[in-house]
Amino acid sequence: MHGSRRAVQSLSFSLPDPPESTPMDRIRLDCTNLMADVVGPEHGITEKELAALAPTSARALDSVRARRTRDLRWLDLPYQEEVLEDILGYAAEQQGRFENVVVLGIGGSALGNLALSGALSSPYQDVAPAPGIPRLFVLDNVDPDLIGEWIDHFDVTKTLFNVVSKSGGTAETMSQFLIFRQKLVEALGETGHRDHIVVTTDAERGILREIVERDGYRSFVVPDGVGGRFSVLSPVGLLSSALVGIDVRGLLKGAAAMDELCAQPGIETNPAEFYAAVQWLMQSAKHKPIAVQFAYSHRLRLFADWYAQLLAESIGKRSGKDGAELFTGPTPVRAVGVTDQHSQVQLYVEGPFDKWFTLFSLEESDHLVTIESPYPDLEGAHYLHGRHLAELFRAERDGTQVALTEAGRPNCSVLFPRVDAHTVGQYIYLMELAVALMGEHYGVDAFDQPGVEAGKIAAYALMGRAGYEARREQLERSAPPSRRLV
Ligand code: PA5
Repeated sequence: MHGSRRAVQSLSFSLPDPPESTPMDRIRLDCTNLMADVVGPEHGITEKELAALAPTSARALDSVRARRTRDLRWLDLPYQEEVLEDILGYAAEQQGRFENVVVLGIGGSALGNLALSGALSSPYQDVAPAPGIPRLFVLDNVDPDLIGEWIDHFDVTKTLFNVVSKSGGTAETMSQFLIFRQKLVEALGETGHRDHIVVTTDAERGILREIVERDGYRSFVVPDGVGGRFSVLSPVGLLSSALVGIDVRGLLKGAAAMDELCAQPGIETNPAEFYAAVQWLMQSAKHKPIAVQFAYSHRLRLFADWYAQLLAESIGKRSGKDGAELFTGPTPVRAVGVTDQHSQVQLYVEGPFDKWFTLFSLEESDHLVTIESPYPDLEGAHYLHGRHLAELFRAERDGTQVALTEAGRPNCSVLFPRVDAHTVGQYIYLMELAVALMGEHYGVDAFDQPGVEAGKIAAYALMGRAGYEARREQLERSAPPSRRLV
């Protein structure tokens, strides 16, 4: 038997009730098991350590918020009413025209789209789309088998391609665009193909913008001050979401609610400050370089991927802001509950003390699925009779949390009352702000990515792009002698 959304049972594990004033649709951050009085002072955080960090944390919040009208424009994305109207207007115009929406992008131009679709559409949306809603594909790789299979199975004439690139020049996205443009032109002609492409890129800079001008494609703008991994609440993430019926207004409202909650300094009260301080303390004082995001929600699992990029690219840096070499940064790891209980949890509970954990958990699932057993004499099956999958899921999660805690592994929980646009918007804003604050603790520029750019330049050189000849020559000269075993 199964049914739709029902609250099955309240949490059985010891999680504190929200304060009286906490709205019921607010996500909560439960940090009980991060503290020294629960997991011990070697691995957990003491009140003294937190208090000592409070002034730096308050300064970090001030300095990040002071930049919101200058270079950190992503902080203001929840309030872009005009852009939202444009996106919704465009999505309404496209309604009923396409069977597929395909995002061509990579990194910050794809991970948010994947995470939003994973969280807010059906997990089977690409095989069983809702009536009148196109399937969404995010082709975030140039593996010929990924692209080639898509071409073999789907019809470009029934597809809208959303090309997303902030820089407008990324080789992967450019190559995908050129491939699908050609397919469209072959099928629909130079004029007819134009309605099947919409571009999201910088307002002025980059080759994609030049192509938009030349070919007359419909386009949206990635605003200045919005870097790739901080762009999910801009047209980068909102456009494809609106096209597949996701409540993008709800997302922005959720983000705005979190912005409001995080406006006031206070390491004990501001969740972004707290989370950033924990990350810093876990690495610098508790010697835990690995941050695991463990999603006990199939819907939220791709947010662990999204966060992995946000954390790794923002904080993983060779140099500090003052130019000194640091070679710093936490290593993000993603895990999915319960699946990874049967893969990773052995290591997490008994392996090295080099990790701390953030569990996502959900108080209310969309579906009620009941287990029935016809074997009353077989206790190994029958104890499940009449129980709901949500109970089992929760028991597994609580069991893992208890095991981690008893083994002295610091862990916290992000509790979602349910997965909807509003709670997801809150989570996105919370993590973006927390990572920006981490940049201040680590003393790095959280908004550049010289390591990524270095890889892009090497790829241009190896592909023979004009202007990169010297780099190509250098790469060829420095290639090590091959050492292959078989
Ligand atoms: O966060 C980032 O800046 C990167 O991951 C970029 O999003 C990624 O490299 C793709 O770049 P672009 O959007 O310019 O094509």
